[in-house]
Amino acid sequence: MTQVTREHWASRTGFLLASIGSAAGLGNIWRFSYVAGENGGASFLLVYVLCVLFIGLPIVIAEISIGRAAQGDAVLAFRSARPDRPWFVAGGLAVAGCFFILGFYGVIAGWALKYFVAALSGELWQAPQHNHYFKDFLAQPLAPVIWQFLMMAVTTGVVACGVQRGIEAVNRWLMPVLAAIVAVLAAYALTLDGAAKGLNFLFAPDWSALRHPQIYVAAIGQAFFSLGIGMAIFLTYGSYLARSQRVPSAAALIVVGDTLLAVVAGLAIFPAVFSFGLNPAEGPELAFITLPSLFALMPAGHWFGTLFFGLLVGAALTSMFSIMEVPVAYFMRRTGRSRRAVTLSLGAVIFLVGVPASLGYSILATITIAGRNILELYDFGVANFLLPLGGIATALFTGWGWGRIRALPGADLHDNATGKIWLFCLRFIAPMFIAIAFFSNSMVLD
Ligand code: PHE
Repeated sequence: MTQVTREHWASRTGFLLASIGSAAGLGNIWRFSYVAGENGGASFLLVYVLCVLFIGLPIVIAEISIGRAAQGDAVLAFRSARPDRPWFVAGGLAVAGCFFILGFYGVIAGWALKYFVAALSGELWQAPQHNHYFKDFLAQPLAPVIWQFLMMAVTTGVVACGVQRGIEAVNRWLMPVLAAIVAVLAAYALTLDGAAKGLNFLFAPDWSALRHPQIYVAAIGQAFFSLGIGMAIFLTYGSYLARSQRVPSAAALIVVGDTLLAVVAGLAIFPAVFSFGLNPAEGPELAFITLPSLFALMPAGHWFGTLFFGLLVGAALTSMFSIMEVPVAYFMRRTGRSRRAVTLSLGAVIFLVGVPASLGYSILATITIAGRNILELYDFGVANFLLPLGGIATALFTGWGWGRIRALPGADLHDNATGKIWLFCLRFIAPMFIAIAFFSNSMVLD
């Protein structure tokens, strides 16, 4: 049942790159750009950064610490920290949640792959109207499922190779490439005429927008999604970290890396959107309709577009590895079977969980709740309910359940100002704000 030797990261850099790769994904590019676009740009960014600092960072520290202390999967980690209390339920929620997250995430990652290939082959640039191109693609039942399958197959293949030889090895070369691509895209977008309007949109807050409660709810949801917290992902990655590695500095780097990636991706997207007089508040279709039509008009836009979709595919993959690793770690321990066998079976199940989300645009399009189709329900439910629920559980567990005496040294912190602020955020700030966002979302659904 128990493993004799647990895998570990080959180096701290490997752990950091894999963790930033986990955090940075579709959330930073596809989701950040449309949520920021819908919620006023700079004012949203401001609230977002506050949520990341006071809610996101403390939870990332907590997750890594719990995992590193236990050297075990999500359920085992909560159980070994407090065997006398039912906190392991939080670990179970995370394991189950990952099936849904990766299910629908794989679908959108599949769209990104389709667009990357179409951009490379030139098909995308011949499409007369990108909005028809996108809708026609999604209206076919089979094609999107095949692209989703391909992304899931790559993810399964990499995770099956192991923590060091699969996940770490791929992140080590892919993450620097992705960082370079996003920097090149932003540098180029900033040279476009009218780029200043995009900069204004992203950095000059319209203070009156802060009066809309929606912006706070959207910012918390986005912080959870973009960092990928509440689903034991950093806990699981942290469980492959040697006890000698410091947690707070690693967590800070992860959070800064993730936020930078979203902002630089915004620097690539918004100047371009504004210089062509397009609307940034297009919703989830921004990356797949607005941007391709813009790339088609832009000088060197075909190159820009191809790189953009390549970035999207790479960023999605590095996140998919981490979401997959949570159930893989759990089921490896529970079943005692090999990593390869467990990963293959889970890959198949998760692919199937995602299929209805993909079909929500074709044969299951009539199934909607409050105007949302199946994929939008997965997305909304994950960002606004599942992740916050997991986040609250992690915060309350670390702040109250684990207890000051174990939690502080567990996170390499001390009973000084920093340690106190960390515990205060976990005990009060995070649960309170997450709960408020949670209930306002329940009202939106009614
Ligand atoms: N953080 C990842 C992104 O930004 C996605 C993710 C969400 C990962 C939830 C894990 C959990 O795309």
